[in-house]
Amino acid sequence: MTLAELLDQVQLLKSSGLSAIDAASTEESLSEERTRLVGRKAGALTELMKALPSLPVEERRPAGAAINDLKALIDAALDARGAALTQHAVRSTQQDLSLPGRRTWRGAKHPTTLVMEEIEGIFRELGFTVALGPEAETDWYNFGALNFPSDHPAMDMHDTLYLGDGVLLRTHTSPVQVRTLQRYAPPIRVLVPGNVYRRDFFDPSHAPMFAQVEGLAVDEGISFVDLKATLTHFTKQLLGSARTRFRPSYFPFTEPSAEMDVECQLCKGSGCPACKGTGWSEILGAGMVHPGVLDAAGVDSEKYTGWAFGMGPGRIAMQRYGIPDIRLLYDSDVRFLEQFAT
Ligand code: PHE
Repeated sequence: MTLAELLDQVQLLKSSGLSAIDAASTEESLSEERTRLVGRKAGALTELMKALPSLPVEERRPAGAAINDLKALIDAALDARGAALTQHAVRSTQQDLSLPGRRTWRGAKHPTTLVMEEIEGIFRELGFTVALGPEAETDWYNFGALNFPSDHPAMDMHDTLYLGDGVLLRTHTSPVQVRTLQRYAPPIRVLVPGNVYRRDFFDPSHAPMFAQVEGLAVDEGISFVDLKATLTHFTKQLLGSARTRFRPSYFPFTEPSAEMDVECQLCKGSGCPACKGTGWSEILGAGMVHPGVLDAAGVDSEKYTGWAFGMGPGRIAMQRYGIPDIRLLYDSDVRFLEQFAT
């Protein structure tokens, strides 16, 4: 190629290139033009550059300069066209900003989960860590190790589904007391959230599957005073000024045993279906760990004492949020649940 031929090519490329750029109507076709004209591997300008070494030495400089000028011109044209196309695209999809916004779906925590997290938060400050246990449990952990004499009437309250081979759906989180005592040496302070199963009918205050949170503290010299003080602190933190009462009860695995009720926040004590007309809602069972339980778990019951509780966060959520029927917690009705989205 001679210098004249090369300069001709430059002129040709200039007019055809610029009009092609102008004609590009989409970002894709513009990008194709970019490749065709200034692509680093096989673009038309790159091809012209390759012809430079075949020119006589003194012609290479003016030829190179002409190619470079064209490159700058084409790059600028490509950029300008690109900007124009982008602007056009934005403008044509621009929406009416005065339209009301479209609501997006946002997940929210279930009210029972919210209460469980609050419970965990309060006990975390008191030095409790979280432990978990299996929902399919052996009857030894669920009953035997917890000091239930076989065929004792206390087991009637805990009728459940037997899975065969001495395995059942646990009726409470108390078996995790034993599992924890077997695994760790005192001092122990654990909180055990989890689901439990009972042959209860679905009614405004019962469900056949529900969440519990178990608490266990075992150490030397722990007394009933520690239990009552801890639960008093806890209910103040969680329920504020709501009235509570502590009454004697019976569990085979605690002695003495107690239950705690909160004055029904739905009827303010006058009686409603949520509190079975009593004006009080039972939120937890508790007591001093029975020495038989410590012994079954291999803990020296002469040296150590402890207390435990098991509470129902579903019942607490009802009190806390004014939910009149426990079944609402299981319906998965978004219209109900979305009220708890924060
Ligand atoms: N496990 C008992 C229940 O489910 C509650 C409880 C736990 C009572 C710990 C005392 C101590 O009813």
